Amino acid sequence: MNRTVAVTGVTGFIGKHIVEKLLSRGFVVRALTRQDSTYTADNLIWVRGNLDDRVALTELVRGADCVIHCAGQVRGSQEDVFTHCNVSGSLRLMQAVQAGGHCQRFLFISSLAARYPQLSWYANSKFIAEQKLTAMASDISLGIFRPTAVYGPGDKELKPVFNWLLRGILPRLGYAESLLSFLHVSDLAEAVYQWVIAETSETTPFELCDGDIEGYSWKRLQEIGSRIRGNPVHLIGVPLPLLKLAADVSMLSHRIMRKEPMLTRSKIRELTHSDWSASNFHISKYINWRPEVSVERALRERLF
Ligand SMILES: NC(=O)c1ccc[n+]([C@@H]2O[C@H](COP(=O)([O-])OP(=O)(O)OC[C@H]3O[C@@H](n4cnc5c(N)ncnc54)[C@H](OP(=O)(O)O)[C@@H]3O)[C@@H](O)[C@H]2O)c1
Repeated sequence: MNRTVAVTGVTGFIGKHIVEKLLSRGFVVRALTRQDSTYTADNLIWVRGNLDDRVALTELVRGADCVIHCAGQVRGSQEDVFTHCNVSGSLRLMQAVQAGGHCQRFLFISSLAARYPQLSWYANSKFIAEQKLTAMASDISLGIFRPTAVYGPGDKELKPVFNWLLRGILPRLGYAESLLSFLHVSDLAEAVYQWVIAETSETTPFELCDGDIEGYSWKRLQEIGSRIRGNPVHLIGVPLPLLKLAADVSMLSHRIMRKEPMLTRSKIRELTHSDWSASNFHISKYINWRPEVSVERALRERLF
């Protein structure tokens, strides 16, 4: 097996863990970056550019046997922002892979959100990218991962929620009976590594979660928090109008700062959806992967 893998999104939360995993297993990694300063490591080759830059993408995939496409737009104030990166950028990368004529495998890090494209701009962009990549892949072996909410060192989104939970307060978004699922980033990085070495050609999207078959209700998270604290956790429902107001304020403040917001009304529809349970049933038929970190363990051992 060729030991060179090209990876995008390496400067982000998940991509960094994937690269560390691949380097630790002896792979040479070619990594796309649009940042000035990056770290150095043996067997890590930086390629400067972004998903709009065809020359950089050609250079990224040169000599690589496999591409892990982890770069993605996760925040944005309008649909175009997501489409531009998650759809057009992904297709441009696939075109570079096909034009290069060497790389045989392409793993797209999509999202569980793609299960419900109608919910948000983000979900829809991931769903469309999955569809278009599948149609385009031809003789490239395409894998699609749909991870649920990912957390762990470097994450900024779930970390505050878990910190509040350990302090005794759990803000509830959406319905009391909603089901959630989670995945520790170390387990996701291991799944990527196992996909690379398994050489499966299955293209149906793989859901990934921590393997908890019940899914996490808000009440269950509250109970886990209470057990770890040895003290009660207060579950506080956040009213939808308040969430929408927070989204509008966030949109406005980010526009002033010229940054893309995470919290928008589009994102709220996704966050408050009632069923985010997930299953590893499909993926476990194709790759040798079993997640190891449950939410309870992560909270107890502060693995985030
Ligand atoms: N976090 C989760 O819970 C979760 C769950 C399911 C799926 N995912 C997916 O996992 C992937 C990584 O998510 P993350 O949480 O690690 O996000 P993140 O921390 O925001 O990282 C995103 C990465 O993508 C890069 N990127 C974005 N637009 C790009 C462009 N046009 N050209 C080149 N690089 C670009 C960013 O580069 P810069 O550093 O230069 O901005 C960064 O390296 C995304 O595709 C996301 O949809 C995440």
